[in-house]
Amino acid sequence: MITFRKYHLAAGLIIIAICSLLSLENCFQGEKAPANASDQKLFAGSQNCVRCHRDIYEQHLQSFHHLTSAPANRQTLKGDFDSANKFYFNDHLLVAAEKKQDSFYQTAYSYGVPKLSRPFNIVVGSGKRGQTSIYWFQNYLFQLPLTYFTETNEWTISPGYSRKVDFNRSITSRCLECHSTYFQETTNKDSKADEFSKTNFILGVECEKCHGPGLEHIAFHEKNPGGKSGHAIFNPAKGSRRQSLDLCRLCHGGALSKSRPSFSFQPGDKLFDFFQQDTAKPVSEIDVHGNQYGMLAASKCFKNSEMTCLSCHDGHKNESMQAAQFYVKCETCHKSASHNTCKLTSTVSQDFLKTNCINCHMPEEASKAIMVIRKDESIPTSAHMLSHYIAVYKDISNQILSVKK
Ligand code: HEC
Ligand code: HEC
Ligand code: HEC
Ligand code: HEC
Ligand code: HEC
Ligand code: HEC
Ligand code: HEC
Repeated sequence: MITFRKYHLAAGLIIIAICSLLSLENCFQGEKAPANASDQKLFAGSQNCVRCHRDIYEQHLQSFHHLTSAPANRQTLKGDFDSANKFYFNDHLLVAAEKKQDSFYQTAYSYGVPKLSRPFNIVVGSGKRGQTSIYWFQNYLFQLPLTYFTETNEWTISPGYSRKVDFNRSITSRCLECHSTYFQETTNKDSKADEFSKTNFILGVECEKCHGPGLEHIAFHEKNPGGKSGHAIFNPAKGSRRQSLDLCRLCHGGALSKSRPSFSFQPGDKLFDFFQQDTAKPVSEIDVHGNQYGMLAASKCFKNSEMTCLSCHDGHKNESMQAAQFYVKCETCHKSASHNTCKLTSTVSQDFLKTNCINCHMPEEASKAIMVIRKDESIPTSAHMLSHYIAVYKDISNQILSVKK
């Protein structure tokens, strides 16, 4: 996948790869896709769900799904714009994250002279691990060269970039399909990369991304108040196992190559009507980032039960940092009555087993896909994520047991 070239101290190798944005030839690195066939979507917007589903709406506002893309502004952007706001590519070349009144920019300086400045328009990522920002140029979207990396609280080179200043990486519709609810694609035969409408888009992974467009649902329930069951709306908990998994897998199932335009998949649809069937990789080759489905599907728990993501997760809550409480979910299947509890039950206290259930059987791993180059370092630093391959990790268990003693 994405690899990093080692940083060569020879400064001569480092170039400013700013192509003239007026001649867009060779500027694009993204794939080109045909325009979206289904532009007419009947989205109501999450703020129209609040009247009848207030509690869920309020939970949703705190969720990472809601926060995963937003207009870039003082409230949504993390990172220092005042002093620790620069990344030095070498001793005379840097990019700075800057604030001018209420607008935010990344500016490249060579020998102290500003060379190119582009705005933060949309921020991608809640900031749990990091934030990458993107900007509009005509109807194209481009990635900014610096990413805010939460683990070390600093600006770094965006993941997957080599050590050069690059404002030209175009954003594909697939990136937005995973990080937003909807973008109208306006790509045509002359487009150099995916093009989008600047007005017709919905940021955040919102209600209707998981439940389907809701205008018809709302109209029905306004006319027929007091109904007990929802009309014309998809509930993942009531769909089949495949339907439920396919929805989450759209974004948590790895890169996937599409066979139909982005944003055509709707909740309830069959994923492989829209993407090419991928061949299952061995677990050792699946990155912990972006493919929870792939890892989970390799686990015995998943293979030998009707498990879905909803066996452990809720569609709306922000559950972060509650790993110690997840043992309750394990116990829905692993309980002494069914004789399939942990092998250590007779040797370690119940309390200890419960609080470390996840640490021993779903430990954190370093991602090889989300890696950033930090200031003054040549070896990229990884973000750490929880493994969804549920298994016995002997070494990690022994480590956790030895700390206890
Ligand atoms: C005018 C009131 C009203 C509005 C507005 C409304 N809903 Fe509903 N919704 C209902 C009623 C009534 C039900 C059935 C009872 C229940 O499950 O709460 C329901 C049920 C649901 C269900 C569960 C369906 C099932 O089969 O279990 C989902 C999902 C849902 N709504 C999503 C949404 C979304 C998303 C929006 C905004 C786009 C929305 N609703 C806006 C009234 C409304
Ligand atoms: C990431 C996907 C996702 C998003 C975003 C999402 N939901 Fe859900 N929703 C689910 C899942 C999964 C279930 C079924 C599991 C459950 O009950 O928690 C569900 C269940 C529901 C239900 C029926 C069950 C209940 O608890 O009443 C309603 C109503 C609902 N969602 C409304 C909404 C509304 C309104 C929003 C936006 C404010 C929203 N959802 C956002 C995934 C999502
Ligand atoms: C449209 C794409 C999309 C869909 C569909 C989707 N997710 Fe996500 N999910 C994301 C993205 C993007 C993030 C990362 C948000 C961030 O932190 O910026 C995320 C984050 C999460 C998290 C982590 C939250 C945390 O506590 O850190 C969980 C858990 C999760 N999703 C579960 C689900 C489940 C379960 C489903 C299916 C019901 C689902 N998602 C459907 C895109 C999606
Ligand atoms: C196949 C779906 C998918 C695609 C395509 C995708 N992402 Fe993500 N991204 C995710 C999911 C899911 C997460 C969170 C969970 C994880 O890392 O596994 C995430 C996490 C992130 C995060 C960290 C958020 C945080 O604070 O934790 C950033 C930043 C990010 N993505 C940016 C991008 C950008 C920019 C693109 C396109 C150039 C992109 N992603 C393409 C699904 C996707
Ligand atoms: C939906 C039911 C279900 C849930 C929830 C569940 N498991 Fe399992 N798990 C199973 C089944 C079924 C097996 C296979 C048992 C067998 O074949 O002997 C299994 C096997 C395992 C194994 C043995 C794996 C191996 O490779 O030998 C471990 C460890 C395990 N589960 C831990 C957990 C943990 C920890 C959780 C909670 C995070 C959990 N399970 C949640 C159903 C479940
Ligand atoms: C057996 C239980 C279990 C199942 C099933 C499960 N998860 Fe998780 N997941 C967890 C636990 C525990 C965490 C850690 C909670 C935390 O600290 O945020 C987690 C965290 C996550 C995160 C955040 C990862 C991180 O390190 O930031 C994502 C994204 C996620 N799950 C997605 C999914 C998706 C998608 C599915 C279905 C393919 C799924 N999970 C199925 C238990 C489960
Ligand atoms: C200190 C680490 C640790 C903790 C905490 C822990 N386990 Fe285990 N677990 C292990 C090890 C190691 C094994 C394998 C032991 C062996 O094969 O001798 C195991 C085995 C298992 C098995 C497989 C049993 C079989 O039939 O092969 C299951 C299921 C399981 N654990 C579930 C759980 C659940 C559920 C929890 C939380 C309530 C938990 N474990 C907590 C380390 C741990």
